[in-house]
Amino acid sequence: MRKSLETVLAIVPVVAALVVAPNAAASTTASTTASTTASSTARTLKDAASISGRLFGAAVGANLLGDLDYVTTLNREFNQLTPDNEMKWDFIEPNRGVFNYTAADRLVSHAESQGMTVRGHALVWHSQLPAWVQHMNSPSQLLTAVRNHISNVAGHFSGRVAYWNVANEAFDDTSRAARRSSVFQRLLGDAWIEEAFRATRAADPTAKLCYSDYFIEGQNPKSDAVYAMVKDFKSRGVPIDCVGFQAHLTSGGVPADMRANLQRFADLDVDVHLTELDIAGSGAAQADSYAQVVRACVEVSRCTVITSSGVTDKFSWRVSQTPLLFDRYYNKKLAYDSVLSVLIEG
Ligand code: G3I
Repeated sequence: MRKSLETVLAIVPVVAALVVAPNAAASTTASTTASTTASSTARTLKDAASISGRLFGAAVGANLLGDLDYVTTLNREFNQLTPDNEMKWDFIEPNRGVFNYTAADRLVSHAESQGMTVRGHALVWHSQLPAWVQHMNSPSQLLTAVRNHISNVAGHFSGRVAYWNVANEAFDDTSRAARRSSVFQRLLGDAWIEEAFRATRAADPTAKLCYSDYFIEGQNPKSDAVYAMVKDFKSRGVPIDCVGFQAHLTSGGVPADMRANLQRFADLDVDVHLTELDIAGSGAAQADSYAQVVRACVEVSRCTVITSSGVTDKFSWRVSQTPLLFDRYYNKKLAYDSVLSVLIEG
């Protein structure tokens, strides 16, 4: 019903244009027809997201690329790939100066073979950090290690990674929303984040550089603190292009002000991305929450990428909470249908 009403509304300006400017109307008719056709033929997440110029991605494990069902679903549905673990510090530089690119290279090559955009994840993060970094106690040595890590990793993938999560989860979850305790914070203070952004820009001038965190989807003390940091970075020319909202949520728990919160960040002149979307639950309640989140994104023009935190519940990091769009047998869930509808409605 809603679709046919939209179709009627789309025809009205075309008819009006035919009366006043037949040539212009011919091209309007063509583009209207093309977009109507794209909407009505979109049968996958990536095609539906493409209607409004967005990407729909997934976090992917290199160890799963040999699983036929997994890869078939990944290739059919998604056009952006985030390595789940393979670009994290403990994986890629387990020992100082020793870089292991094999698994990450496989993922990037797979993405390229399928025309998928790559998000690098994550250059500096307190977790999945090797012991040799965690146990450092010299600020100057740590800063050198951070710069060296970034110049190697971002340099290695330069031109092949469209977005980097440069710094991840740097704020804690208390009502104070202070910076999280970490070796970076302890030895380098607040400056470690901007150091990381500057080093990444130097290593890869073309990638868009993002800060990503969880529990910042609505307006709260934590998102206020991230907002203040981004605003400060923009005012001082620290190279930040995007903010990632991880969106690890629960059915019924989508913040009512999510769209407004995304918009206030976008108004700082950054793109906003949903970087690790998953919603615990099942059935209609989960589908409704997914619809709310995706609607919040599509209503913000600078919300340009939605990335699911995995392909199937079978391999989710929250496996018991069945938070993804495909069940463990790769069946599309109700949540899948609701996401597709919201993307098509635009
Ligand atoms: O690589 C080892 C393997 O050698 C070993 O046999 C196996 C046994 O358990 O563990 C493997 O490592 C696991 C790794 O995933 C790779 O599969 C770790 O135990 C496991 O803890 C790790 O989980 C990852 C988790 O981050 C760690 O914090 C999840 O896959 C990953 O999806 C999850 O993602 C993070 C985001 O990057 C940032 N936001 C939060 C999210 C959840 O922590």
